[in-house]
Amino acid sequence: MKQKKDINVNQLTLFHDEEKDDFLEMNAPEAIDKLKIIVPPIKCQGIKTKLVPFIVDNVKRDEDGLWIEPFVGTGVVAFNVAPKRAILADKNQYIISLYQEFQNGHITPNNVREFLEYHGHILEQRGNAYYREMREAFNRNRNPLYFLFLNRADFNGMIRFNKSGQFNVPFCQKPDRFSKAYITKICNQVTKVISVMRGKDWKFICCPWQTTFTYATSKDYIYIDPPYIGRDTSYVGEWPEEEATALADYSHKTPANVCLSMWKENKFRRNDHLYDHWSDFTWVEQDHFYHFGAKETNRHPMIEVLAIKR
Ligand SMILES: C[S@@+](CC[C@H](N)C(=O)[O-])C[C@H]1O[C@@H](n2cnc3c(N)ncnc32)[C@H](O)[C@@H]1O
Repeated sequence: MKQKKDINVNQLTLFHDEEKDDFLEMNAPEAIDKLKIIVPPIKCQGIKTKLVPFIVDNVKRDEDGLWIEPFVGTGVVAFNVAPKRAILADKNQYIISLYQEFQNGHITPNNVREFLEYHGHILEQRGNAYYREMREAFNRNRNPLYFLFLNRADFNGMIRFNKSGQFNVPFCQKPDRFSKAYITKICNQVTKVISVMRGKDWKFICCPWQTTFTYATSKDYIYIDPPYIGRDTSYVGEWPEEEATALADYSHKTPANVCLSMWKENKFRRNDHLYDHWSDFTWVEQDHFYHFGAKETNRHPMIEVLAIKR
């Protein structure tokens, strides 16, 4: 059982990754509520939940233009910006099919509850062995509900596939993972996400990022949150320097406005790629964005930047 700690809204910026996302939801639901952040039902490395207020404050766009996200991930930014029209894309087909299924009504909060209750109960009895069976089943059937189950029962909400495309993240080692409260939290997240999608012209597409740029006009806004160079990119294969450089090139050439999310520096490193390829964009910084952790060594500031074209 995790321990509930006292926390206030100002401490929201002290969190950084997806595991802390769970911590935050558990310990500070009222803070999230106050900020009215819509938290998605899936997690991934580099999820931007804590940066949502910073991003929303800095995005100035034409409300009638298209919102384009080539690296939509969990969708947390799009859900909170809530544009009327959007292209939400990712190379990860399972995230995209889950959101398409929510959108077309094939997966509902009730389906999710039934599925998680049924498999969560067996997980409680059989632990890791059952998690592995579910992972093998997903690697055969590629069912988005299995993907959701694994994402919420695996280590740190990670998404990672091996070279043969098999999902390979280990179990979080908590057989009682799917408590009643946890399932309710996930179902409420599904309900919120479905309600924000309703009535909007949003297209979820599985494609390489380059494809999304072909839709952009001068009225549109492209928010890019690519994998970070020099940090763990094993979850979707490589994010090599050439790909990052090509993205900078496309972003300069597109007629649309562009906003890039990127780390700038911490105590140990500076992100040279940002200085080399994005210095003509306007940088807005989120200072002192700390990892939350008991150990002093986990608390080095990471400065995050939004590099905005105009
Ligand atoms: C840093 S994450 C995005 C996180 C997202 N903004 C959020 O808050 O959840 C990067 C995303 O890029 C996707 N991705 C990686 N390489 C890609 C590529 N070549 N084309 C399209 N998407 C890609 C990954 O699947 C991952 O979801």
